[in-house]
Amino acid sequence: MQATLSLPSSSTMLNKNFIYGVATASFQIEGGAANRLPCIWDTFCNTPGKVLDNSNGDVACNHYNLWEKDIELIDSLGVDAYRLSISWPRVMTQSGDLNPEGVHYYLNILKRLKDKNIKAFVTLYHWDLPQHLEDNGGWLNRETAYKFQEYADKISIALKGYVHSYATLNEPFCSAYLGYEAGIHAPGIKGKEYGKKAAHHLLLAHGLAMQVLTKNSPNTSNGIVLNFTPAYPATDSAADKAASDYADDYFNQWYAKPLFDAQYPSINEQLPKDQQPVIFKDDMEIISHPLDFLGVNFYTRAVYSHDDNEKFKEMPAREPRTDIGWEIYPDAFTALLTSLNEKYILPPIYITENGAAMADKIVDDEVLDNDRISYYQSHLNAVHCAIEKGVNVQGYFAWSLMDNFEWAEGYTKRFGIVYVNYETQKRTIKASGLAYKNLISNR
Ligand code: FCB
Repeated sequence: MQATLSLPSSSTMLNKNFIYGVATASFQIEGGAANRLPCIWDTFCNTPGKVLDNSNGDVACNHYNLWEKDIELIDSLGVDAYRLSISWPRVMTQSGDLNPEGVHYYLNILKRLKDKNIKAFVTLYHWDLPQHLEDNGGWLNRETAYKFQEYADKISIALKGYVHSYATLNEPFCSAYLGYEAGIHAPGIKGKEYGKKAAHHLLLAHGLAMQVLTKNSPNTSNGIVLNFTPAYPATDSAADKAASDYADDYFNQWYAKPLFDAQYPSINEQLPKDQQPVIFKDDMEIISHPLDFLGVNFYTRAVYSHDDNEKFKEMPAREPRTDIGWEIYPDAFTALLTSLNEKYILPPIYITENGAAMADKIVDDEVLDNDRISYYQSHLNAVHCAIEKGVNVQGYFAWSLMDNFEWAEGYTKRFGIVYVNYETQKRTIKASGLAYKNLISNR
């Protein structure tokens, strides 16, 4: 069983300027809920039956209080960068002013990272929409995009000098589709007529935020983080191929094409009118603001077949699978990166998330997660292959620094390279964390 991570000695991923990092998100680790406004995930967690273990983010990893120790931990892994997100409801008041206490909290973190020479990759929106904005329609209300621009404007001025890179949004697909169409993420709204409308306002919010980031923070690398679940046909049949192409446009290209081509995939015209986004005159130009980088999150692929009633049908995930049930299929990662590179004129790419939930066991203060190490190995290899094929990938972030609140799965799924005991809040670096550390330090 594999306990180390390695790359071919010729790999540019072994260059010192290739950035290795670890990633987290505010709601998933912070806790400190009493020191911020409520967000849609607080409300969702408090709605019975929404989160698998009926848990919430009130304490999470208590990073709100343990951040100093956690930065020591990050530093001990020898990473070049740390990807974190800012909690919008922590730094903005309901009346739209900065909340000094919240800003201070992040400034302390960012200053400490700077002292330690760890680059801060800051995401402005990793799903924790202030509840008062949801009460006003949330992402179904165009106004929310302008509220996001105001927040991005104020916070980027307040954090000036401490951030290496800003991502506007994390995975707008999840916010829009899971949150407003499938209803399995906050705010739990369900209906085909909502998903693309929410998606459009999220993308508009992104473009509006890019405008202020470019102005306030011209020296940071500013972009967006998208997730991709590459679509594969169940068989070689033309019908399955068409189904998987449609699903790819619906779930993946829907978020990429507007950024690079200033238009939605052509399937938009096939959607019933009430499912189409409401597009104002300059929207597509705003959305396609040039990016300094594209963040790519990859975990798995999906397989689709033809369906007589719907455009496609998703097949059950094939083996082998991780503990969250996602198929392990690293070839899709290489194929994704090369196909994006063929389809669009891309800015530099960072892999902003990649990792696996595994059924970890802690024994004598050790977690021997060789299954996670092999996941990382095969996916690092996949990134290496994409680079060999000409894709400009400049960095890789492991999801996640530590076990945390995994959204609708609560605390039942562990994605960390560091184990968290939620009773004691003790952190223990897993074998995968040690292997990652060695890979980085042996460059
Ligand atoms: C991504 C999310 C991240 C984490 C991983 C497992 O979709 O961005 O917060 O939950 O999945």
